[in-house]
Amino acid sequence: MDKLIVKGGNRLTGTVKTSGAKNAVLPIIAGSILGETPSRLDEIPQLEDVKTICGVLEYLGVKIDSSEDHALTMDTRSITAYEAPYELVHSMRASFVVMGPLLARVGHARISQPGGCAIGSRPIDLHLKGFELLGAKITQDHGFIEATAPQGLKGADIYLDFPSVGATENIMMAACLAEGTTTLENPAEEPEIVDLANYLNQMGAHVRGAGTDVIRIEGVKHMHGSDHTVIPDRIEAGTYMIGAAMTHGDVIIENVLVEHQKPLLAKLREAGVTIEEDIDRIHVTCPGELKAINIKTMPYPGFPTDMQAQMMAMMTICRGRSTVMETVFENRFMHVVELNRMGASIETTGARGALIEGPAKLTGCEVNATDLRAGAAMVLAGLVAEGKTVIGNLHHIDRGYENLVGKLQSLGADIQRIKVQE
Ligand code: UD1
Repeated sequence: MDKLIVKGGNRLTGTVKTSGAKNAVLPIIAGSILGETPSRLDEIPQLEDVKTICGVLEYLGVKIDSSEDHALTMDTRSITAYEAPYELVHSMRASFVVMGPLLARVGHARISQPGGCAIGSRPIDLHLKGFELLGAKITQDHGFIEATAPQGLKGADIYLDFPSVGATENIMMAACLAEGTTTLENPAEEPEIVDLANYLNQMGAHVRGAGTDVIRIEGVKHMHGSDHTVIPDRIEAGTYMIGAAMTHGDVIIENVLVEHQKPLLAKLREAGVTIEEDIDRIHVTCPGELKAINIKTMPYPGFPTDMQAQMMAMMTICRGRSTVMETVFENRFMHVVELNRMGASIETTGARGALIEGPAKLTGCEVNATDLRAGAAMVLAGLVAEGKTVIGNLHHIDRGYENLVGKLQSLGADIQRIKVQE
């Protein structure tokens, strides 16, 4: 079992490059299923979640060449199966995003039902409703969800009750090979949706309006493989920005798309952080004291729920009372207990609200990464805590941060990964 040891007190200084976006790459890899010829993907982050989705595709018969650094070649001509088993879907809910492309390409998909998860029940009703409107027959038995459309899917008008990222991706991919036009209203508008739509269009699909509140997909008969470079990870970049702010450091973050960072940049500026923007890099300094702010997580372009835990770590050392409202997930405050154990003063108000009094004097102790972004929050808190913070449950962090330790060390942080006897 590995643990992270962070000794607080060092300022982060220097330059760090953001990796490809985890949340873009997972549906894009799944989308490759739609192509009848091989695809090549670049800027692939080296993450456990990427290994998991590749495992699902390999199980389906896709041949994947990952021998090149940060690139993947996917040959989908050999797809032989339509089933994704429990072991693979259980370890990562996002595996469910193979259902749409598989259903469209093969006319049949049987995916293990994703279980509950650390940050709420996360149902898949919107995905299934969309598939049904496209003409698929859905059955559920023995823990599996099976979708069939032997005569192919048909375009439909679909309204999403909530702009779910996964449902938007799954339905958008299924509609690419449907007969006729699909209109998807109230879809997610996240940058990762736009990146996926761009990839699908390069593969011969006809998707218009991704990134707006209506997406129209004119079905095509065939799609082919394509080359694609994945967008930078706005959540990873944001995590380093907060690290720079909390340590009063001086950090340049390279490989960012500044327009994707607007909700975070606005809040960091409000807290007193100095930010200089260029087209693909952001310079963060923080000469003065951090001030309390309020955030409310929302679907994009609102403040991202995936930055909530890291932002809360920062709020613990801001002067005054900060507030957090989590509107996207029903149970995303597991980091509160851990931050309070480090000396923070956070009170939750129901399942979705938190009050943070600062500045607290954080002190290092043993904590756990309770989910991916909560793990990042522990690391950030450790960077400013007095003494040693020992972080366990690193498999969560490994899912979504490429070379976190190496990148933070290059910025001057005192952080190490050690093996501990169980
Ligand atoms: C994706 C991201 C995740 C991010 C989240 C919200 C990936 C791989 N993961 O997750 O990092 O935190 O978007 O920005 O891209 N919901 C339903 N029914 C459904 C689907 C969703 O009620 O059928 C609810 C969920 O329970 C949740 C909310 O909608 O409360 C948002 O979920 P969704 O946008 O689907 O998130 P994911 O795609 O799972």
